[in-house]
Amino acid sequence: MAHPLFGAAYYPEHCSAERWSIDARLMQQAGINTVRLAEFAWSRLEPKTGVFDFAWLDKAIDILMAHGIQVILGTPTAAPPAWLIQAHPEILPVNEDGQRAGFGMRRHYCPTQPAFHAATRRIVQAMARHYQQHPAVLAWQIDNELGNITNGIRCHCSSCRTAFQYWLQQRYGSLERLNSLWGTVFWSQEYSAWEQIPTPMRNVRPGSPGSAHNPSLYLDFARFTSESWVQYQQLQVQILRDLCPQHLITHNLMGLFPYINYVKLAQDLDVVSWDNYPRLPTPWSAFKGNWSPSHVAMAHDLMRGLKGRTYWVMEQQAGPSGWGRISPTPLPGEIRLWTLQSLAHGAEAIVYFRWQTCNVGTEQYWHGILPYDGTPGRRYEEICQIGEELQCLDTLVTAAFPAEVAILRSYDALWAFEAQPTAEGLSYDDQIGRSYRAFWRRNVAVDLITEDSSWESYKVLVAPCLFVLREEVSTRLHAWVEAGGTLVLTFRSGVKDAYNRVIDQPLPGALRDLAGVHVIDYTALLPAGAGVPCGGPESLELVIDGTIHRVGADVWMDDLEVKDAEVLGTYRGGPFDGAPTVTLKRIGAGRVIYVGTSLDDRGQALLMNKVLDETGIKPGVPSPDNVEVVRRVHEGTDY
Ligand code: GAL
Ligand code: ZN
Repeated sequence: MAHPLFGAAYYPEHCSAERWSIDARLMQQAGINTVRLAEFAWSRLEPKTGVFDFAWLDKAIDILMAHGIQVILGTPTAAPPAWLIQAHPEILPVNEDGQRAGFGMRRHYCPTQPAFHAATRRIVQAMARHYQQHPAVLAWQIDNELGNITNGIRCHCSSCRTAFQYWLQQRYGSLERLNSLWGTVFWSQEYSAWEQIPTPMRNVRPGSPGSAHNPSLYLDFARFTSESWVQYQQLQVQILRDLCPQHLITHNLMGLFPYINYVKLAQDLDVVSWDNYPRLPTPWSAFKGNWSPSHVAMAHDLMRGLKGRTYWVMEQQAGPSGWGRISPTPLPGEIRLWTLQSLAHGAEAIVYFRWQTCNVGTEQYWHGILPYDGTPGRRYEEICQIGEELQCLDTLVTAAFPAEVAILRSYDALWAFEAQPTAEGLSYDDQIGRSYRAFWRRNVAVDLITEDSSWESYKVLVAPCLFVLREEVSTRLHAWVEAGGTLVLTFRSGVKDAYNRVIDQPLPGALRDLAGVHVIDYTALLPAGAGVPCGGPESLELVIDGTIHRVGADVWMDDLEVKDAEVLGTYRGGPFDGAPTVTLKRIGAGRVIYVGTSLDDRGQALLMNKVLDETGIKPGVPSPDNVEVVRRVHEGTDY
């Protein structure tokens, strides 16, 4: 494989065939060696049920290949054609209000519908058979951004409901057990037949955070829907593995997208890839507005963590973007900046979205490298410059990324907080982001992992708001700390068991002996000025190595009873004036830090210094604000 892969999403079906050679020549001049093709081209590849036309795609690929360009083929299942929906309207997904989507966007399919599975098999098999020996094909991208449904995130159709009931049956064995573990006695929700169990359709006003469903049902439905996407992907993976064993298989993920357990989705792929739009506010992200550089860095580290190695950026923003409104354009040099950030964090492929801006369809405003008229301009020049510079980075793209610190981001926690956001201003990803930023500012390498990953080799594990704690995870945490690990826990940890029930022990539940504290009281905080407990600047004192620092806190305050730990921080004022809030307990060679509130950036930085000191981890090369220095290691040499 030529390193790094450098390319663009290309849509020969959006332009005339005369243009293809011009494009291929311009690509070659820019150093482009890879393009992604066909991921929305179903209606052109299979214009009628079982009637296939690959001639146009063959021709486009031949032209690309003649210019030294290899291809990643997308299976086109993200865009089910009109003829398929007409024949099988049951394929259309049903949102949480019970409304069936209409034809007219994309991703208008339910992942559990048998008719859609049959149609998927037909098109994927036909494509795989046609391209299995093609010398230009490097890899397959399955579908496009699984789960990125604009009209309702999870499907509530009757096929999904039946599949959910069956899934529950496998998981719980008997209704008696399910009723007991879910606590369905509450509000007379006891089930006497599996068919009675609903999917958690909307039962609160639109826009209200959370759901008023039984939290146990809600969490299980989130797990089930995540698995239904994993299984839908498997259906395609199996076909491609059988027919094209020599090709790589990937899927383009969406960074912090919270609705699919990406660790499980990644297990079936050869390589993880993801779509990186630093200037795109995403509806499902905790980060509204433009992403800060540390958020983008964190998303990269999460993607690298899924398989613990380098990954691809399948869509890298290459112009101003938007559907109805156009975002600010990347400043001169900014596409290059985003590209270098991607490479620094472990990307070994950069594929820009998209080659030329399209003058028709929903994404008319989504600008590519070339403008509508196809004339190379400022953005093309920048891509050419990057293409040239990449030649010198060959060995570095696959260099190791040695991290001694991991941050745990749990899908169970994301989903349980989705059902019960718990406090005004509490966002799980924001809590993760605050910890991440503290390390990022000091250029300390961090891997983002889940509780199902192996964390045993890290020196430090930060697990903010580890809300849902499964028993085996608690056991592993105990063993790892005793063996010398440094664990940082915060408020709202160990609150729920695997069934999303609040545990009936002092918090942090199963972790309380490890932390050496009991939470005896707590309060949610409102934004300043609300006339009730609000935290704010200087609301606690941190004593680090004999020096007193006043730092801010918001969102939440735990009142701690210290059983067996050293106190590092106490509240100043507020409902728990003078009570401890930050503690440190040493256990053998390991230690546990507990933080009972949400620290501001300064507090996070001080605490992180303490963690580095205690563990002997060296901070990275110092750099000015918003300048990242990433350390990569190749054959014993540091870069
Ligand atoms: C991505 C998607 C692309 C394109 C792009 C711009 O999410 O994968 O197909 O739609 O956004 O909207
Ligand atoms: Zn469905």
